[in-house]
Amino acid sequence: MAIIAPSLLAADFLHLGKACDMLNESEAAWFHLDVMDGSFVPNISFGLPIIEQIRKATTKICDVHLMIVQPEKYIEAFKKAGADILTVHYEACPNLLETLSQIKAQGMKAGVAINPDTDVQVLNDIITEIDVVCVMSVFPGFGGQKFIEHTYEKVAALKNSIQLKGAHTLIEIDGGVTEQNAHALILAGADVLVAGTTVFKAPDPLKSIAQLRSF
Ligand code: DX5
Ligand code: ZN
Repeated sequence: MAIIAPSLLAADFLHLGKACDMLNESEAAWFHLDVMDGSFVPNISFGLPIIEQIRKATTKICDVHLMIVQPEKYIEAFKKAGADILTVHYEACPNLLETLSQIKAQGMKAGVAINPDTDVQVLNDIITEIDVVCVMSVFPGFGGQKFIEHTYEKVAALKNSIQLKGAHTLIEIDGGVTEQNAHALILAGADVLVAGTTVFKAPDPLKSIAQLRSF
């Protein structure tokens, strides 16, 4: 059974309380929260005050995905806002190992996201230090984009490296996940599926979450 992480980015921002209520009732285990700074990615989403409110309203694990430059500056702030998992981008961290250990020192799980054009091999030597690898299956910045097919090969290679090192790292897929590609992603080795559009634009979001989880 997959871990499903619906992405708040696709929710109705006028009714975030409703999104939390729906999610609390659902079979999703995580809530994926996309923070964008207009610098690392060409879009701006939401930040600390929204996450603080979501934390109060959700019973789920808050999975915060930072698409920001210099994420190391905000580790404590996101912990205080309520993050359980804090994911930084490989491409934004000149001293990734140090950043990961700072995240863990704050009592959070540490995630590393990699862009579609970043090779998974770059994480080989540090894989045992990473709790979650977030494989971007679209270029980060916007919801509702088309899934990049090359992702399957990356997931398989990553799974291989995780198993070779005896690591317990989870593989999360972020971008363009649908009820059509979810099964193949799980077969390729994915553990966690982020889904924004598929869940929040569905006629029945609870059913869509249950369907994604069943693979
Ligand atoms: C993209 C974000 C994704 C996005 C996924 O930059 O990181 O989490 O919300 O949205 P969908 O599922 O709509 O592709
Ligand atoms: Zn994300």
